[in-house]
Amino acid sequence: MTAPQLDFTGKRVFITGGATGIGAELVCQFAALGAGVAFNDINESAGEALAARLSQSAAAPILFLKADASDAGALQDSVDDGAGQLGGLDALINNVANDQRETIDDITPETWRSNLAINLDPVIFASKAATPHLKAAGGGAIVNFSSLNALLGPADLITYTTAKAGIIGLTKSLAEALGPDRIRVNAIIPGWVVTEKQRQLWLTPEAEAEWKAMCALKDDLLPEDVAHLALFLASPLARMITGQGFVIDAGRT
Ligand SMILES: NC(=O)c1ccc[n+]([C@@H]2O[C@H](COP(=O)([O-])OP(=O)(O)OC[C@H]3O[C@@H](n4cnc5c(N)ncnc54)[C@H](O)[C@@H]3O)[C@@H](O)[C@H]2O)c1
Repeated sequence: MTAPQLDFTGKRVFITGGATGIGAELVCQFAALGAGVAFNDINESAGEALAARLSQSAAAPILFLKADASDAGALQDSVDDGAGQLGGLDALINNVANDQRETIDDITPETWRSNLAINLDPVIFASKAATPHLKAAGGGAIVNFSSLNALLGPADLITYTTAKAGIIGLTKSLAEALGPDRIRVNAIIPGWVVTEKQRQLWLTPEAEAEWKAMCALKDDLLPEDVAHLALFLASPLARMITGQGFVIDAGRT
């Protein structure tokens, strides 16, 4: 028996919203394990800088594609473009989102639609775009990012929470629809992950202390911790796992 290991040499991965935060960590880790990686984002400067930095030492192409993921056509074009340049696709990571705060009074038909357009719609439209490429590869993996907020329901993230709960259901339906083609679909449900953006906007010392008081594990939940779960779910080690949601929250729930 050979020891199981994570190795993405020769594999092709597409990541949505990969320029900063958890997405950038995903790009780095898949690249470090040998994958060719294409990722999109609206943050052109961060995306180009990340691709240029990783390309200096990567074993396979690392490609940044500028695209607004809330525009279904542009999103689908970027997935096709990435798959074309990489020579196919073995995995799609649906990471893009925007957790802007809102109260119930802030919600209008327009904010509701635009908020779902970035937090829910990209999961289905990137998955639809990736499916022919994954089928052509003989199967593959889709990893969707939900959030613990889908289970907790915070009052100031109503549309985001709705989208993230929808992603759990969408994951189950896509797993049923695509299982016969050996395409596995799972969701990651993270608690509060310490990224630069969270520190700048929401993760004050008081909020952090409050969060950690409710967690079994008192260390920071980091982008790399979440990326490790995505690597596992995208790898053949998870060959018979599909349609599931995996909470990673330092024991908060
Ligand atoms: N950070 C957390 O605490 C946390 C907790 C639970 C779930 N999550 C989920 O993990 C994933 C990554 O989280 P994050 O904190 O790194 O997010 P983030 O907001 O920091 O980064 C998201 C990335 O998407 C990009 N982006 C935003 N709008 C875009 C658009 N219209 N088109 C293309 N790209 C766009 C941003 O530029 C950024 O690079 C998200 O799905 C998020 O909901 C995060």
